[in-house]
Amino acid sequence: MIVVLNFGGQTCHLIAKRIRSFGVFAEILPCDAPLKEIVQKDPAGIILSGGPSSVYEKDAPFPDDRIFSQGKPILGICYGHQLIGKKYGMVLPRQIKEFGKQPIDVLAHGQLFSGLGAKEQVWMSHGDQITSLPHGFTVLAKTASCPYTGVENQKMKLFGVQFHPEVMHTIHGSQILKNFVFGICHAKKDFSLEGLSHKLILEVKEIVGGSSVIMGTSGGVDSTVAATLIHSAIGERLHCVFIDTGLIRKREAEEVKQFFQRLHFHHFHMVEASALFLSRLKGIADPERKRKIIAHAYIKVFEQKAKELEKKYPDIRFLGQGTIYPDRIESAQPTNKASKIKSHHNVTLPEKMKLKVLEPLKDLYKDDVRKLGHDLGIPHDMISRHPFPGPGLAIRILGDVTKEKINILKEADAIFIEELKKSGYYHKVWQALAALLSVRAVGVMGDARSYDYIIALRAVTSVDAMTADWARLPPELLERISNRIVNEVRGVNRVVYDVTQKPPATIEYE
Ligand code: XMP
Repeated sequence: MIVVLNFGGQTCHLIAKRIRSFGVFAEILPCDAPLKEIVQKDPAGIILSGGPSSVYEKDAPFPDDRIFSQGKPILGICYGHQLIGKKYGMVLPRQIKEFGKQPIDVLAHGQLFSGLGAKEQVWMSHGDQITSLPHGFTVLAKTASCPYTGVENQKMKLFGVQFHPEVMHTIHGSQILKNFVFGICHAKKDFSLEGLSHKLILEVKEIVGGSSVIMGTSGGVDSTVAATLIHSAIGERLHCVFIDTGLIRKREAEEVKQFFQRLHFHHFHMVEASALFLSRLKGIADPERKRKIIAHAYIKVFEQKAKELEKKYPDIRFLGQGTIYPDRIESAQPTNKASKIKSHHNVTLPEKMKLKVLEPLKDLYKDDVRKLGHDLGIPHDMISRHPFPGPGLAIRILGDVTKEKINILKEADAIFIEELKKSGYYHKVWQALAALLSVRAVGVMGDARSYDYIIALRAVTSVDAMTADWARLPPELLERISNRIVNEVRGVNRVVYDVTQKPPATIEYE
């Protein structure tokens, strides 16, 4: 296996994901993991990820220095590259930052760049750079303004790249990672998703023992797969709680209930709590405050239900969660060093609970989770649902949330999704949503002037939600959806289609 030390970069998990896709297990550890923990895993090599810090900052994160004297190959990526530079040479901050796609000149292939061309396209994102080549190192590549874009020291088994080989914009990034994993570390292919469900079921059985588990299920792919996995392991000792926050899609509560019935879950508890959420959100326009309020209200309702169930079933000791790997990265765990973009409410839940957390999917990526769900026999329509955020429609209503706005958005969203499904586009996009812009526009309906809300439609293509592109939906389809929304949903007189990529925008509106 390969250990990836996480210095908080947004793409850190992509490194692990790429390596796993080669058939080699990769595990991400906090950047300051003690040597003992790393050595115990007996990795074939270590990768130091990128991160938002500068090696010159006060409190800049450093790995356990002893990793450099273990004789294990080390590859530094971006910040990791600069760490190697700082230890063995010199790194300086630069005025000009390099960001995005960049051409590089390959000067030598060495081991790391074996099989690459003389010119390559890579993806950069850095401010600092190595300014003097450490002794004994070979330069592999440069850009016009970055003389040590790739370096290696075969004797010391140290390798570094200033760019990100893990992102798809680095055209031969996989080749570089393969060179490291196989050519340099001699790792063996022995990781596959086959048999994963069996392994995870055994793990859940062992962790839970004879206790029971309570779990919040949202009807989303992650919590559904996690619940199904736990249910396969412990059957009737699993209690699923679905909270209707009033911020969910039209008919969602009913559909989710039917689904769990279809899968023969023993205990599925539905809690209708929309009034509480709505009253707490009254007059609140700030997105982060909205998220926090929803998270707290969710915890309150969940705790109440949990208390009630614990009285009846005193052996409830675990809280099941559908947390997946990217949730932890985007919420700045496990290192607390990833730049905080949005607080995702599903990972704040356990902090308040006294139960032990059970997160069987915490190291998996979305596509792995879908594959696992398929292996567990979950119907395709459920596994292939678009993601839906914990705070729900509240973060798709810009500004304050009212019952009227929720109802308008539910109707518009239902039309959008229905038309996408009918036209076959639902499964061609990663995620689609309607948002309500809380401003009004003038229109003319019949012979009268209207002054109503604007609905923004957003459909994106993506691989992992870290980056996304707007989906090129056919104009006729957009026209049909727009006509239907304006005609069928009272309170809307204008529909716009969002053509922004992520980054700079995010997928959700808040
Ligand atoms: P953004 O808006 O950050 O979204 O580009 C990336 C993906 O994450 C989903 N998302 C959330 N999921 N709780 C969730 O469970 C949240 O608070 C949350 N915010 C965003 C979003 O729908 C997209 O798939």
